[in-house]
Amino acid sequence: MAAALLLLLSIPLLAATSSSSAAGDAMPAAEHRALTDILTSLLADQSWAELHPLPCSETPWPGVQCDTVNTDFLHVVSIHIGPDVISSPPCKSSAFLPPAALLHLPFLKSLSLFSCFLTPNSASLPPSIFTDLSSLQHLVLNSNPGLSGEIPSSVSTLQSLTVLSLSQNGFRGGIPPEIGRLTGLRQLDLSYNHLAGDIPEEISGLSSLAILDLSSNELEGNLPSSIGILQSLQKIDISFNSLAGRVPPAFGELKRLVLLDLSHNNLTGPFAGKPLRLEGIGLTVIGLSRCELFGPIPSSFGSLISLTALSLDRNRLNGSVPASLGSLPELGQLNLSQNQLAGEILFSVEFVKRLGKRLDLRGNRDLCARENKYEEGSFRLEAPACLCSSSAGNGGNRAERGEEEDGDVRISPALDGGDQTGNCHFGPVNARHMCFLGFAILVALLA
Ligand SMILES: *[C@@H]1O[C@H](CO)[C@@H](O)[C@H](O)[C@H]1NC(C)=O
Ligand SMILES: *[C@@H]1O[C@H](CO)[C@@H](O)[C@H](O)[C@H]1NC(C)=O
Ligand SMILES: *[C@@H]1O[C@H](CO)[C@@H](O)[C@H](O)[C@H]1NC(C)=O
Repeated sequence: MAAALLLLLSIPLLAATSSSSAAGDAMPAAEHRALTDILTSLLADQSWAELHPLPCSETPWPGVQCDTVNTDFLHVVSIHIGPDVISSPPCKSSAFLPPAALLHLPFLKSLSLFSCFLTPNSASLPPSIFTDLSSLQHLVLNSNPGLSGEIPSSVSTLQSLTVLSLSQNGFRGGIPPEIGRLTGLRQLDLSYNHLAGDIPEEISGLSSLAILDLSSNELEGNLPSSIGILQSLQKIDISFNSLAGRVPPAFGELKRLVLLDLSHNNLTGPFAGKPLRLEGIGLTVIGLSRCELFGPIPSSFGSLISLTALSLDRNRLNGSVPASLGSLPELGQLNLSQNQLAGEILFSVEFVKRLGKRLDLRGNRDLCARENKYEEGSFRLEAPACLCSSSAGNGGNRAERGEEEDGDVRISPALDGGDQTGNCHFGPVNARHMCFLGFAILVALLA
């Protein structure tokens, strides 16, 4: 109710502000024609242009902004069409972009069309549309499922572009390598299309890029390591594609990186060995779910002090859970489920309490928790209690049997829950040493 009232009130307010900014009514005739052409090609109400002869002054068009841009005329600087534009007619089902119209809007800085092309395969971006449109800074065509065909390589002629967002459309084909010529681009969002093929190496030409979102496409091939030279990058989301190969170590050198999401790909490789150095201590979100990562989780994750969310679920990570993760002060979400992690969970009770159900360690067959350490059901864990006994020297039947079965040396969960003594003991070698060390410390303290 209050919101509706606010909307009603804001209509005359919007109209008033846009008309008051008009210094005169004069708009170059060619520009006026081009604007009319575009809006009649898009909007359902064909009488709209006739009813609003002065789009920049007395009869303003919602979503259209004009400015004199230090000339004697009014020029169209921004066109925005979408369901959020109050009192604008909706797009027609046969909406299209006239190939040459934008060329007659030489002062256009921003073009954004939301949810306009909805009929499947009803519209495309003709290559000629972008030629010489050097003023355009923001091109945002989002949520237009009917907008299909390829992204024309002529987009690279838009040399002033800082934001290119073509998310949630029906684009197919590859990412044009020419896109790398947009050296002023700060945001590239091509997410939720059907883009296929490799990510072009040329993307490394985007030297100002802060946000790269290529998620939810059908991209394949390797991640170009040249992305690692884009030192302005703060957010990389290439999740939900079919990328293969390793995460290039160069990614670890992006010092401003805040978010890295490469989940749901066919990426592979151990973290360690050729470690992903992840120097960006500002990193707050890392998503590497459902890749094919294997090997241990590097304890260096524990030095990413800004980390709020870490998802490594559904990989083949093995070794132990680094206890250092549990001292990350901002961490609020940790998913390590569906891996091959082993050994005792060493997180503090406080940490486990803080994360609650946002701590997920399920589906790791060889993880175990000290009996009664954590509150029952306090986090997502299906691990049994660690096999326990007061004797460090005697490996215990269960562990001995485990060793015989598969020749593997590890801390064994007490699957049969047969040991009730409450003191943990572990399988042979490493684990036994740890336990012995603990025992030695205890002895030293008591002495
Ligand atoms: C990953 O690769 C496997 C086999 O190599 C294939 O079956 C699967 O579809 C691929 N997954 C993705 C997300 O590309
Ligand atoms: C982890 O798995 C790799 C093979 O994927 C194996 O070589 C390595 O020994 C395993 N490490 C541990 C600690 O289980
Ligand atoms: C953790 O990941 C698993 C597997 O991908 C998923 O099913 C589960 O919902 C996630 N848990 C949380 C708490 O997000």
